[in-house]
Amino acid sequence: TRVLVLNGPNLARLGVREPEVYGSATHPDLVDAVQRWAVELGLEAEVRQTDDESALVGWLHEAVDSRAHVVLNPAAFTHYSYALRDAAAQVTTAGLLLVEVHLTNPYARESFRHVSVIGPVATGTVAGFGLDSYRLALSAIARPRV
Ligand code: DQA
Repeated sequence: TRVLVLNGPNLARLGVREPEVYGSATHPDLVDAVQRWAVELGLEAEVRQTDDESALVGWLHEAVDSRAHVVLNPAAFTHYSYALRDAAAQVTTAGLLLVEVHLTNPYARESFRHVSVIGPVATGTVAGFGLDSYRLALSAIARPRV
């Protein structure tokens, strides 16, 4: 089972960026952890990061065309990108899983973070568990569904 793990803007700055909010793990640490969990769960995961909305849209189209499930941390795009929402909707309507993930719990933060335009078209959301949010998302994809 193939999974694209897609990280949006500013997530390459993990470890440097507001460590009191996002923790001390770096993006390379995230990639290592995801790869390890994917192997344990029998998944084939590829982790990518970009600050570019159009690259994320293109990767979601690629997920549809290559039939890969998606773990998506849309970062700030979560809160306002209708382009990303429309691309994410294509993944789930194609019968693939799309798990929205966040390191932090956006509901416990500023009010502009309380809205996700991605959530309504995602299969589900995991937020607030730091790097472990990605592990939980991967287990949801690996889990046999009834
Ligand atoms: C985030 C939460 C977003 O509100 C924020 O813009 C991010 C990271 C998270 O993983 O907690 O960049 O998606």
